[in-house]
Amino acid sequence: MGNLVSISDSSTLIGAHQPPTLRAPEIEAGVGCDFDSYLLVPDTALDDRIAAAKARLGPDVVILGHHYQRDEVVKFADFRGDSLKLSFQASQAEGRYIVFCGVHFMAESADILRREHQTVILPDLNAGCSMADMADIGQVEACWSELSSLVDSREIIPVTYMNSTAAIKSFTGEHGGSVCTSTNAAAVMRWAFDTGEKVLFLPDEHLGRNTGYRMGIPLDQMIVWDPYEEFGGNTPEAIRSARIILWKGYCSVHQRFTPQQVARVRREHPGIRVIAHPECRFEVAQAADQIGSTEGIIKAIQDSPAGTQWAVGTEIHLVNRLGKELKNHKVISLMFRITPQHLLWALENLGEGNVVNRISVDERTRHHARVALDRMLTLR
Ligand code: 13P
Repeated sequence: MGNLVSISDSSTLIGAHQPPTLRAPEIEAGVGCDFDSYLLVPDTALDDRIAAAKARLGPDVVILGHHYQRDEVVKFADFRGDSLKLSFQASQAEGRYIVFCGVHFMAESADILRREHQTVILPDLNAGCSMADMADIGQVEACWSELSSLVDSREIIPVTYMNSTAAIKSFTGEHGGSVCTSTNAAAVMRWAFDTGEKVLFLPDEHLGRNTGYRMGIPLDQMIVWDPYEEFGGNTPEAIRSARIILWKGYCSVHQRFTPQQVARVRREHPGIRVIAHPECRFEVAQAADQIGSTEGIIKAIQDSPAGTQWAVGTEIHLVNRLGKELKNHKVISLMFRITPQHLLWALENLGEGNVVNRISVDERTRHHARVALDRMLTLR
């Protein structure tokens, strides 16, 4: 493995939600269903209590941890991975309880893929994703009917990124489409073009463009659909001739990376390799040496010759963790998502027979969303 830096100026990444640092009293805090008392659990006690709560639950619980989660949480995960790997784990997990240390849409997908007897828990319901909220089902249905007024809708294959709500996944399944993640977006898009003429790509404009372009589709055959404009802000002719219709959504973290940052890191670290997540803008993806999912980024760095320097364009916990494994410097963090206090709260409550923060997708939505997710898992 080599040396690692973030391609971002770390100062631009501040503004994250920081967990409160409370002076811990010497009493056993955090008992019962109320989360607030868990904020009083001393940091020094968290590890032991999480480990004990997990051990008590034994094989009844499976903890899934996304690469973006902080070290204090991810170290308790039975399985760690990117969103594709974790969906697969969720569909195969044996425990009665699947505790998902990730964001809301990932836990929702796990609930769609779980077996009958299983329950999915998201330790902190605030662990959301702004991109998933950028495609509202009403807007997507309106888009579909506008598109259908111009072209035969059987020619359009909807593909939704995993980072979308269950309602959008369900819409996708119902209209013959598939879910994808950043790992298999190209495979899913290839399948979609084998099946139809056009792809409606939801809700990440950048992943759709970066994937399509790398598959050889020219930029002028892609249009952006702005849900707040009539016909998405496009002319009927542009819609008829487009091959990819990109929903105007983005990840607020990856959108912050710029080609100027890439140029600067190259100036300051001659010979450095730049790898970016495909949720980054097109210009950044083009300026990078390669793009990859969280798992892809880890693998690329692990497989590179010792001494290789890397600049990484993705969320900072992952960059920090890789940096630490390399005994490298510190970078300021952005998104905390699940805290160890939330994980402890969820596990201790399960031990007491209380299910907190259950994620539950209604049956009708599950039905079609499952079709779209299963299709993705077969295209993986
Ligand atoms: P990965 O599929 O690369 O893990 O990405 C998940 C994600 O939410 C990126 O923002």
